[in-house]
Amino acid sequence: MSAQQVPRFPDGFRFGVATSAFQIEGAVAEDGRGPSIWDTFGRVPGAIAGGETGDVAADHYHRWETDVALMSELGVSAYRFSLSWSRIQPSGSGRVERRGLDFYRRLCEALLAEGIEPFATLYHWDLPQELEDRGGWRVRDTALRFADYAVVAQEALGDLVRNWTTLNEPYCSSIVGYAEGRHAPGAREGHGALAAAHHLLLGHGLAVRAMRSAARPDHRFGIVLNQSPSVPVSDDPADVAAARRHDCLLRRQFTEPLFAGRPPEDYAELFGAISDFSFRRAGDLEIISTPLDYLGLNFYYRQHVADAPHHEPDPAARTAIDIGIDTTRLPDVPRTGMGWPVEPQGLTEALVDLWRRYPELPPVYVTENGCVQADERDADGRFTDLARIDYLRDHLRAAHDALEAGVDLRGYFVWSLLDNFEWAHGYKYRFGLVHVDYTTQERTPRASYHWYRDVLRAQRG
Ligand code: NOJ
Repeated sequence: MSAQQVPRFPDGFRFGVATSAFQIEGAVAEDGRGPSIWDTFGRVPGAIAGGETGDVAADHYHRWETDVALMSELGVSAYRFSLSWSRIQPSGSGRVERRGLDFYRRLCEALLAEGIEPFATLYHWDLPQELEDRGGWRVRDTALRFADYAVVAQEALGDLVRNWTTLNEPYCSSIVGYAEGRHAPGAREGHGALAAAHHLLLGHGLAVRAMRSAARPDHRFGIVLNQSPSVPVSDDPADVAAARRHDCLLRRQFTEPLFAGRPPEDYAELFGAISDFSFRRAGDLEIISTPLDYLGLNFYYRQHVADAPHHEPDPAARTAIDIGIDTTRLPDVPRTGMGWPVEPQGLTEALVDLWRRYPELPPVYVTENGCVQADERDADGRFTDLARIDYLRDHLRAAHDALEAGVDLRGYFVWSLLDNFEWAHGYKYRFGLVHVDYTTQERTPRASYHWYRDVLRAQRG
């Protein structure tokens, strides 16, 4: 597969790779780190496939120098990673752990020495357990604690990190964590999940305002959202309406407050039976819609939505969210090793749609894109992940289509540099350009790593 098959991106376009703290670091009890909700969730029987935990993960905490060398050799100009809140503030508020901050200082200094720009995410799902014990994202106080933590991180790392992402995929932290219970903290509450979504956005806005007031003109602030377009499985009005409900839950619940300063128009009707929205206070939407310097968009696949019977919610119980949708009717297209449909045009659609919908949309980065492919090796033992190369090439083309359609797209990050802890799936599914042997922690670049390196060389040349 030739690197020439990727169109030329503008000068200054950032090509990078992405990871997150809990998924790669391991060393969960080292240097004063406190427990997070994912440490706790990993000990709940049946919560994670195979009973696996993030205790060791890809051991990045001890092998970060090797990992920076892999990135340097790859030729990326940016690295998106996350800071572990519980390494920096072990109990989520108050006391700051210098050793945790020093780890990120060493990492960022090494990145900058290799000409790699750090893009730090403050929250990639790993809430300090002590804050969860006090109500987690269901309660407003957590948003305030998040803004405090953001300032602590900025003060300690602000000479090294210029790009600050507040949250990664608040949909997952709220709906998947507090309504579906598939992610930590494993709750199943409708009202609680909507409150969590609101408090996450509030925490985001408070953090951006607090960090901006530090008067660092070179600092840029953004948020990362997962933005799968919701496509109806047919033009039957019932399916079209179901896709719109899904779009409210997954996308507009976040984009409308952030970029239009209001809740989605169908929000109250959709969720009125499970919540009185008492978590909202006057002035919150102004804080949430604080202008941003960039939006990060994570894209993996399109959602195909059909209407489905649903249970009338019991307002007294404020039960988990059921909006009468079925997302299991997939089209006849290739699938990734995780079963996700491969439809690169969905990336163009997601980008163009946002750009058209919100005149105030800031510049955009594709902050995650990648796929799982079951490993195959050639006679010499090399990893031949050709389907991953096809996936990445086709999505880079789709990103370029969005650029040509007028979207102010500034960069693209592959998920992921390394195989890592894929949340409730444990270590079964591998997204890495680099294979990790979890017994020896040996890193072995796959064919896709060499291909991406060639793409980046061709773009520079
Ligand atoms: C999005 C999440 O941000 C990341 O943590 C996860 O591993 C990938 N999707 C793949 O599922």
